[in-house]
This record gives sequence, C-alpha cells and structure tokens, in this order.
Amino acid sequence: MTSNEIRKKYLAFFQARGHAVIPSSPIVPVNDPTTLFTSCGMQPLIPYLLGQPHPSGKRLVNSQKSFRAADIDEVGDTSHTTFFEMLGNWSLGDYFKKEQLPWFFEFLTKELELNPKRLYVSVFDGDKRMKAWRNNLAQPLTPDVETIAIWKQIFSEVGIDARDGYPTSPEGIRIFSYPASKNWWSRSGEPEKMPPGEPGGPDSEVFHDFGEELNLHDRSAYKNKPCHPNCQCGRFMEIGNSVFMQYQKQDDGSLIELPQKNVDFGGGLERLNAVVNGTPDIFKTDSFRGIINILENLMKKKYEEDSEIDRAMRIIADHLRGSVMMMTDGVLPSNKTQGYVLRRLIRRAILYAQPLGLGTDVSKLGDLVLPVAEIYKDAYPEVSKKAAEIKIIIKEEAVRFGKSLERGLREFEKLGEDQLNELNAFNLFQSFGFPYEITEELFRERGKILDKKKFEEVYENHQRLSRATAAKLFKGGLADHSEQTTKLHTAHHLMLAALQKMIDPSIRQRGSNITGERLRMDFNYSRKLTGDELSNIELFVNEKIKANVPVTIVGMDKGVAEKIGAQMEFGQKYPDRVSVHIIGLSGDVESEKAKPSDYVSAEFCGGPHVRFTGVLGHFTIKKEESAGAGIRRIYATLE
Ligand code: SER
Repeated sequence: MTSNEIRKKYLAFFQARGHAVIPSSPIVPVNDPTTLFTSCGMQPLIPYLLGQPHPSGKRLVNSQKSFRAADIDEVGDTSHTTFFEMLGNWSLGDYFKKEQLPWFFEFLTKELELNPKRLYVSVFDGDKRMKAWRNNLAQPLTPDVETIAIWKQIFSEVGIDARDGYPTSPEGIRIFSYPASKNWWSRSGEPEKMPPGEPGGPDSEVFHDFGEELNLHDRSAYKNKPCHPNCQCGRFMEIGNSVFMQYQKQDDGSLIELPQKNVDFGGGLERLNAVVNGTPDIFKTDSFRGIINILENLMKKKYEEDSEIDRAMRIIADHLRGSVMMMTDGVLPSNKTQGYVLRRLIRRAILYAQPLGLGTDVSKLGDLVLPVAEIYKDAYPEVSKKAAEIKIIIKEEAVRFGKSLERGLREFEKLGEDQLNELNAFNLFQSFGFPYEITEELFRERGKILDKKKFEEVYENHQRLSRATAAKLFKGGLADHSEQTTKLHTAHHLMLAALQKMIDPSIRQRGSNITGERLRMDFNYSRKLTGDELSNIELFVNEKIKANVPVTIVGMDKGVAEKIGAQMEFGQKYPDRVSVHIIGLSGDVESEKAKPSDYVSAEFCGGPHVRFTGVLGHFTIKKEESAGAGIRRIYATLE
C-alpha cells in the first residue's frame, strides 16, 4: 500500500461516517503568528474546538502538512522527521469516545489490514497530584476507566482478552495506564504547563508492536527489562492519538470544562505507511524511497550498507523534503523566523552531503526536489508547480553557503595562536556554518586540540539564550486566549476599520501582536498620522463600543466573503469555506448583496472575540511610530 492510498482510504473512511474533508492549512499558520509552524492538525481548528461553529459542520477530516522544528536534532534515526503529514479527524461537540475508538480500530484492522494482536493502547491514569490548576473542576481528573472499558470491548470482539495495567509490570498487559506526562495532550503538554485559554484533555494512543526481536537498541531506558509501548527502544511505534479535548485553562490557573466535548485525532501518515509495509524504518517507504534512490545514485552508496551513511541519507532526505514543502508554502531562506529554520535545513543537508561524495557540486541536491513533487503530485499539486523555482533557490542557497564557508576560512586564518579556543570555534560555527568536525581539523593543523565538551558548553549556553530570545521574538499575534486579550483582539478589528474609513481605504494590516495589556498593529501607510487623525480613530472605535454592536461569525464561501469586502490576512491562502468575523452586521451577508456600509468591520479570522462590543471599555491610542519603510505601528489599550 502506498502513502497516497492510505491517505485516500482514511479520508474516505471518515467521509463515509459523515465527516467533511477540509483542506490542509499552509505550514506557516494562518491567523496565528504566536507559533512559527503548523505542527499538528488541530492547530488551525482551535477556535472551533473552543465552541465557534465551523463552516463545514461538526465532523471534519483532513491530512495536514505539519512541521516540528524542535525535532531537527532528532532526525537521523528511522522514525523522526521535521515535516510530516498528520491524518486527523475531529468531532466538534458531536461524537465522543464510544465512536472514535472503535472507528480508528476498524480503520487500522479492516482498511489497513493490520493484525489486531500487534496493537497496544495507552490511557490516561488520572492526576493524583493536588495542584492549584484543578481546584475549579467539577470532576477531578480521575483514571479514564471509560476508555479502558471501551478498549476491552473492542479487543474482545476480535477474540483478544485485553488486560489493563501499568508499565511497571508490563507482562501480559495490552491497555497501559500512564500519567499526564504521557496521556494528556495540549499544545504545551501537561495541564500545569498550559497557558490561559489553551484547550486540552486526556488522550488514548495506539501503538504497533514490531516484535520483541527489535528491542535491541542501546537507547532503551528499559534495556534488559520487559518493554512497554512508551519505551523508546524502537519495538513499539505510536501510530495514532485520540485526544478527548474537553477542558480549557483559565486565567487563574484552573481548568474548566469546555461547553462541548471534542475529539481531536491525529496520526502520522509516514508512520502508518511504515507499519502497513512491515518496517520500522519510514525511510524505506514510498514517502522517501524516491529521494533515497537519487541519493544512492549521487553518492554511489547503497542505503543500509553503513549505519553512518544511512544516518546522513536520512537527514538529507528529511531536510530536503521539509525545505521543499516550506518553500512551496512561500517561505524563503533568510536569517529570521521561518526563513531561518529553512536556511538551517538546507545548510545541514549540504553539510551532510559534502563528505559523502557529492563533492563541491552540492547544488545537485536540487535533484531531490523532483521526487518530492512526484510523491505529492495528487495530494499537493502546488509542489510540482513550484519545483523549478525551488531548485533555483536551493542552488542559490548552496552558493551563498559556499561563500560563507570561504569567508569563515579567511577569519580563521586571522586568528592569533592565543585565540584558538572553543569560543572562537563556536563563532566559526555560528557565523559561517563551520561544522565542529571541520573546525577541529583546522585547529589541529595549527597545533591546537579542541575540547569537545567545552565547545558543547558554549553551544548549549548559546542555545539557551537564543531560545529565550526566540520565545520573545515569536510572540506575534495573540499571546493567549484570555478575556482581556480577546477584548483587545475585537478592538484590533475595530481599529483597522477606523484606519480604512477615516484615513485611507487602501490601508492593510501588515502585522499584529496582542497581549493582555495592549494591542499593536502594523499597517501600510506612507507618513506619520497627525494628532487629529489619531483622535478621529479613537472616536470611531469608542462610538462603536458605546453602540454595543454584535460580533457575528458567519461561515461562507470564500468567493462571497471576497465579494462583500471581507479583509484577508496578508499573503494567506484560505479554503473554499471560510469563517468571517463581522462587527455591527445590519445586512444579509449570505445573499452576496451586503456592502461594506452594512457592517463596521468584516475580517477573515479564526481567533476569539467578544459577543458584543459594549464590554470592551475605553479605547486609547498610546503611541504611533514608524515600523520600517512605508509601515506604521500603533499601540493602543482598553481601560
Ligand atoms: N493533537 C493531537 C496530536 O498532535 C492529536 O491530533 O497528537
């Protein structure tokens, strides 16, 4: 079975059970600049999991292009990748555990024909710790006995007597109970780590058992002990996660139940593909085979002949595939945000390719674009359309990297004998992309033996600092979904409407950052706004607040939304059905006859909003300044 067949079967299976197929969102999130990449299928659906009606209904299914930058350093083994496709199905307050678990099991055993004896599952064991965050909860977080009972029934129907128990005595156990660290899912992990507004809940994972013979790797924490599904030895592979998303974190640190109980299921397509084809190595499946074949030819080496070369091939294959998918969605190599991650991927791929026979003509890596386009020619035809352009970008980046390495060499030659230390070795790595191994050899030629431990300390220290800076830097968009941030978000829409109506209709938003304290908006405009203009904007927004007009969410066809003049986010792609937030609606929008005069503001938006503007308070502009050529920035508050 191929990855295309698995994807098709999954979508059709859930479509037959009343789910609407929705398109994959771009890898760079729409309407959510708080995070760099779409890392799972639920991310673009958060407002709908929180209760906003989805324009396509209560049952959704898709395959989401996903990217996890945090996994870059893990790539190289047989199961980790940066880019992956996540198959997902959702119940937005519709079905729950009793439907989800048997459906997924049926999909695995009937559609993919997996042997039920090879399947193991995990469930949430409750949270026995008395933490402040659960004070407000009507029901304490007790062990998920309901899910255990459902799994027992499912397995008994295929003749398996499934016993439940704990990883500490795994013998004969099929249903494993784990604490929140393993069986609670939110984008930030366990309940106490969730920020205000974040949804989450207990989950149940399904694992495929490749057999005890695979329990051989040194990396097993349970080496020489009996294995269990969450052991990292490679024997078990997680292939699907059903999250029972029914809680939301509050501003005071407690959890409350959401108005609706949701299911958020996600399963990695590449992993399912590996399991269906009986291999624990996803790089041996058709998702990667085309790329590995070309690498074998370019490098004149076979996959699975030498473990070091295998590792390099996997890193190159993953990084190139991830880069292609990112560039398809419009990211270009740069020194900032997504562009920086892309640059790192391309350069890491080049570094691993160089010593393996690709010589100096690393631009040959561009040849790997075609197999990626080929795999996705049906699911994501946009890859083929951009393939030629992407090849050129890779080539240019390879040339730029080559020059950077040359410059680094010149800097190295300028270093005095007393400057040959780990800090400067790190600077060569950091500023010019010199890998440690090359630097070590340069240094050795000049009689200096580098201490790898010290180098790693300098590196770790730098990583810590840059992570802290990045956490601040990437906080664009909504900082959280708290009450005050939500109010400022609605005020943000009103302010954009004011700018367009009072200053210039061609003004468009170019960036935003909203915290619980203030909103910040960047927009295109060629000059500083006058004091009178700023007062007029304040007056407009405060009038609309006083009028207490409704904020309505309308699901509509994209074409209709465009016709009525709804504002789109700069450079984003939207599905055929979209959610439009309309403030002060007084006409019939669905009829396509609505005009901008029938509402105060209409924006394509998936974020949280107040229901009526009257609750916002008093709107004040605090500052207006330049934010670059042709871009102005306004800070404003609600008091
Ligand atoms: N959101 C969950 C995950 O990423 C299930 O889709 O695992």
